[in-house]
Amino acid sequence: MMSGRSTFFDGTWQRTDYCGTVGKEHLGKKIVLNGWVRKRRDLGGIIFIDLWDHTGCVQVVFNPERHPDAHALAGDLRSEFVIAVAGSVGERPQGTCNAAMTTGDFEVTAEEILRLSPSAPLPFEIGDATDRVDENLRLKHRYLDLRREKMQRNLRIRNRIAMFTRDYLSRNGFIDIETPMLTKSTPEGARDYLVPSRVSPGNFFALPQSPQIFKQILMISGFDRYYQIVKCFRDEDLRADRQPEFTQIDMELSFLTEETIYSLIEGYMKELFKTILDVDIPTPFRRMSYWDAMDRYGSDKPDLRIPFAIADLSSVFADAGFAPFKEILANGGYVRGVPLPGGASLSRKGLSDIEERVKKLGGSGCAAFQIKDGVLKGPLVKFLSEESQEALRRIAGVGEGDALFVVGEKSRKKISDILGTLRLELAREHDLVSKGTWEFLWVVQFPLFEWDEEEHRWTAVHHPFTAPLAEDIPLMDTNPGEVRSRAYDCVLNGSEVGGGSIRIHDPEVQEKVFACLAFSKEDARNRFGFLLDALSFGTPPHGGLAFGMDRLAMLLCGASSIREVMAFPKTQRAQCLMSGAPSDVAEKQLGELSIAIALHEAPEAREE
Ligand code: AMO
Repeated sequence: MMSGRSTFFDGTWQRTDYCGTVGKEHLGKKIVLNGWVRKRRDLGGIIFIDLWDHTGCVQVVFNPERHPDAHALAGDLRSEFVIAVAGSVGERPQGTCNAAMTTGDFEVTAEEILRLSPSAPLPFEIGDATDRVDENLRLKHRYLDLRREKMQRNLRIRNRIAMFTRDYLSRNGFIDIETPMLTKSTPEGARDYLVPSRVSPGNFFALPQSPQIFKQILMISGFDRYYQIVKCFRDEDLRADRQPEFTQIDMELSFLTEETIYSLIEGYMKELFKTILDVDIPTPFRRMSYWDAMDRYGSDKPDLRIPFAIADLSSVFADAGFAPFKEILANGGYVRGVPLPGGASLSRKGLSDIEERVKKLGGSGCAAFQIKDGVLKGPLVKFLSEESQEALRRIAGVGEGDALFVVGEKSRKKISDILGTLRLELAREHDLVSKGTWEFLWVVQFPLFEWDEEEHRWTAVHHPFTAPLAEDIPLMDTNPGEVRSRAYDCVLNGSEVGGGSIRIHDPEVQEKVFACLAFSKEDARNRFGFLLDALSFGTPPHGGLAFGMDRLAMLLCGASSIREVMAFPKTQRAQCLMSGAPSDVAEKQLGELSIAIALHEAPEAREE
């Protein structure tokens, strides 16, 4: 050792610079770097390592011509050993620069080394190819997976989103208030995660599915504008954009209307996208009622990047000679179609595959049309007059080279579901989803209630505190299914990134809603009595919304799953492969909680 450096990690070994920042200004200087050995190459007596920290990599050279102990210094260094290196910065010899690295024109000649900790042989190599490694293996060794550039970048973007959010909301008069994690079951409609109470044997806390009730109570307490970046827990079937434990950007405001929310959030998104991606988002966002979205796009979260929509073809087929469609329409049903630009080139097999797909989606059939050489072709063309053919082209917006898939169904919901799925699948398969665009949309006027076939009762589409549209309140007595709510979802590129509503602040309306939901007074008291009590002590008009922070981060990072923007996500079976949670616990612990286990078979893990 020279220069008075010690053999343990003290201040003399602390980095003077980060690996990824080594550049021209360091030429000829001595620096100290701390980091991980990413790669080691032994080439003709010279040893190279790429030394990594979160800012990037730099090449460190152990050259016996420049340093007599070079080989001893490099010793047994292998991938992911942690070291401190002192050395001098030089330019790489001509022809050996690496344009793919930001530091690729430079190298550090090692003069001293402190080996800080070794690494066991790696279960997988850390680099660009890591994406192809089995995800379960990566999740088991998440600490290694997180050392990848992509994960580092994603989590840093996520951090910037959180920082920006706090700043924007503080600027707009919101304050951050924490709400309990050990609480009572909340009404978001998924299963709860329960926590047994030791001191109240047989009783359980529920982890919050959202801070819904508490944030409403904070409005009643006069806080005016609340926000929280908060963990929520839902025991539901998982998919790429759902985790059992996820984060909401949650907010609630008093004395507001929907317009207050729309302009607040549009301002938020505009600044957020500018800050993170340097993209200009046009505002105001489009607005669409739930039923318009279902009829035109077959989804309550339409992807407006897809340049075609569902067409209502009832007027074309009402009087045409094709009996099945005519009958469906005569009985109040629907005949609608999805166009496929460029679909005229599909073969007979391609067309019949799509018909099969419609059947798998629950449809009774599907009639295909194609326009080739100016002529409309397909098995149903013979039932259509020249005029009707013209109308079909016009209404569906199809022209030369396109195809159209037409379906008839009795139920409005069912035809929307079938054609909505078909629209998405065809657009993806034929690469018709426009890239690099950000299509925001407010979906509004959801139904307040939906009929639950299994339980034979009305249930809340959002939650039971969502206000009905004032003009629809009388319908609660006559036709609950027709009542529209003051709920709004914020949709981005076909993903529901956020949702909320104006709440009920009138105890009478709240009681009416509970009555429609067939909650007895006692049920309601048991479940939400504390909110009902609070509502009776002077409640301001209030409302709010929550964003799925993980979904927002996923879209901003260009990731395909929220697992890529969460440090420690769970698998489809809601397990943490790294820590082994959930796991069994000692008998003694169960005893203290007055719990006995009766094992049932685990349900199948489902990805929807
Ligand atoms: P909601 O249930 O719509 O509303 O949830 C708000 C947003 O949270 C995200 N989200 C999820 N993200 C990941 N994994 C999940 N399992 C998951 N579930 C929901 C979605 C969704 O839009 N209390 C209301 C909000 C309000 O009314 O103010 C609520 O929780 O992006």
